Amino acid sequence: MTTRFDVGQPDASLLPNALVANSMQRVATNVLMKNPLAIQYGEAAGPICFLDELCGFLKRQNGVVYNREEICLSSGNSAALHIIASRLVSNSKSKDILCVVPTYFLACPIFKDVGATVVQIPRDGYLDYIRKELECQIDPPAFIYVIPTCNNPCGDNMENLQELISLAETFNTKIIADEPYNMLGYGHIQPPLYELSGRSPHVISLGSFSKIMAPGLRLGWVQGCAETLECVYLQSGSIVSGGGSNPISGMIAAELMQSRGMDFHLCHVRSQLKTRMELLERKLNEEHFEFKYKVTGGYFAWVDFKVDTSTDEFIASCRDHNIAVTAGRRFWPNLPVCTFGRVSISNTPVDQVNTGAKALVRILKKYYVIYK
Ligand SMILES: Cc1ncc(COP(=O)(O)O)c(C=O)c1O
Repeated sequence: MTTRFDVGQPDASLLPNALVANSMQRVATNVLMKNPLAIQYGEAAGPICFLDELCGFLKRQNGVVYNREEICLSSGNSAALHIIASRLVSNSKSKDILCVVPTYFLACPIFKDVGATVVQIPRDGYLDYIRKELECQIDPPAFIYVIPTCNNPCGDNMENLQELISLAETFNTKIIADEPYNMLGYGHIQPPLYELSGRSPHVISLGSFSKIMAPGLRLGWVQGCAETLECVYLQSGSIVSGGGSNPISGMIAAELMQSRGMDFHLCHVRSQLKTRMELLERKLNEEHFEFKYKVTGGYFAWVDFKVDTSTDEFIASCRDHNIAVTAGRRFWPNLPVCTFGRVSISNTPVDQVNTGAKALVRILKKYYVIYK
């Protein structure tokens, strides 16, 4: 069986089928059978019960109180990113999106779909690169895209976020913070960038239930100032035409939050991920392979494999040893040689982390000797 260190999806032990099934039943009995309009088009911002329960959930998790007007339901971060990118790019003179790399590789196709040009900003020293970029352009970029917490693929919380926010405000651009992992902090849970910014109109945070609950619900939320949300999200053609994107999933999630099933499950996911990640780090460190950044939570670690991870030989060797990892260049397309790779522990229960790490080290050592 292949150890799937490449997949950024929860494995079966992290998917709460029974919990979700119970909530669906309660929604069917208590809402659909009682309210004749329950399956009508939904409110643009999402069902009130969802927004209120989400405010309560975020308060319990982050200790922060939000108003209902600062949150909209979405069909997950990919869909929200598409809507927001298309609004911002079409309303901006510049079609550039500044994207801190390495980054979530599937964000770039979304940006290309909306006609944007992705400008890659190297992660180390990113603030200086962004400042230079902003200073030398006549028009500000459509927006800056970051994954500030429990980053994909690096696993860490980005540094210098306050300075980044100040730059966005000074140069009158927006930051889209893609934050599906921030509630998966192994210790401290950093609030979303919108909160860190003092609720700036220049910052929009995207949260998702995909990584903490169930990707198949296709459910998330957009957080920002009421005026910003109105302009970049609620006024989009698809929301105006179709109403709130996923009201029934929103009702199921509202039930899960009200019953605290969501909180309970989130604790389980966090502790599983922490155990797996600590084991992976220990096993790799014993053999002198390091995480480049300190993993604060979530699914991923960015590991220096000390060999070019994009070569056919390396990929074939992983395949022969039943290991799958993702080569670093996928997250940083312009880099000519990349010795890094992303290792995900979301799809590998503890026993698989253990055997998978050993097999991975065997492959790396073989290549390390060749490349030394
Ligand atoms: C940074 C990032 N953004 C967005 C997504 C997709 O999120 P969703 O399932 O909410 O569309 C992922 C999933 O891997 C991700 O890692």
